[in-house]
Amino acid sequence: MDDNNIKILLEKLKSAKSVAVLTGAGISAESGVPTFRGDEGLWKKFRPEELATVDAFMANPQLVWEWYLYRRELMSKVEPNAGHYALIELEKRFDDFTLITQNVDGLHRNAGSSNILELHGNITLNKCFDCGQSFEGKINLDAGSLPQCECGGKIRPDVVWFGELLPAHAINGAFEASQKADIFLSIGTSAIVHPAASLPMEASRNGAFLVEINLEPTPLTGMADISLMGKSGEILPAILERLGG
Ligand code: APR
Repeated sequence: MDDNNIKILLEKLKSAKSVAVLTGAGISAESGVPTFRGDEGLWKKFRPEELATVDAFMANPQLVWEWYLYRRELMSKVEPNAGHYALIELEKRFDDFTLITQNVDGLHRNAGSSNILELHGNITLNKCFDCGQSFEGKINLDAGSLPQCECGGKIRPDVVWFGELLPAHAINGAFEASQKADIFLSIGTSAIVHPAASLPMEASRNGAFLVEINLEPTPLTGMADISLMGKSGEILPAILERLGG
């Protein structure tokens, strides 16, 4: 870890009033959740256009549900890691702290983060494809027919698929938090999927000190004020420790 950059970040954190954090799949990697574009990434094994689009669901809802139930099963077995918990400690230090996540795994919530904006939904939730009403029932693929809403609509996972609009409250809140942030941390994301990927630039344009924490360089690396390369589950606790009591 670049000690000089850490020193600069600590100074900035000590004087900041408003902090916004954007996380991606990388922060959950150390919990055992596969990323999307890493070597063992989901999109290396599966075709997003067959599994994570409205057309895919209309064409083959059974296949799409099989895949989401497989991921739900996987995520039901994982726990938040030191990176998730370090963000809880960081949140306690600021009256104005917003955690914006692209992750649907719910690990920030499970870790105890409070002010969270889930841009891409939450994989543990279901809703009606037609009326949008949430659905609490069990998804049983062996029942011969997929569950239906009382309105007759198909039940789908409550996540955002490619080509779909993000939940308005989440993306509007994310832009607001980015525009007023003194410090913006981008953690564990390849920074290529929009509109989430435009949040760091929005923050920087509005004067925020932009920090990237990632395992490898991304399109954001050259634009960040400082870039800390490494595992978020190691870097974040180290920053908290250096920040002290
Ligand atoms: N610590 C920090 N960064 C890590 C770690 C780690 N332990 N492990 C991996 N990374 C980095 C990778 O280097 C990569 O740059 O995390 C990034 C993960 O990138 P993606 O797999 O592209 O995931 P993400 O950026 O969250 O994807 C955005 O794309 O597929 C859609 O909706 C999906 O929300 C997702 C969106």
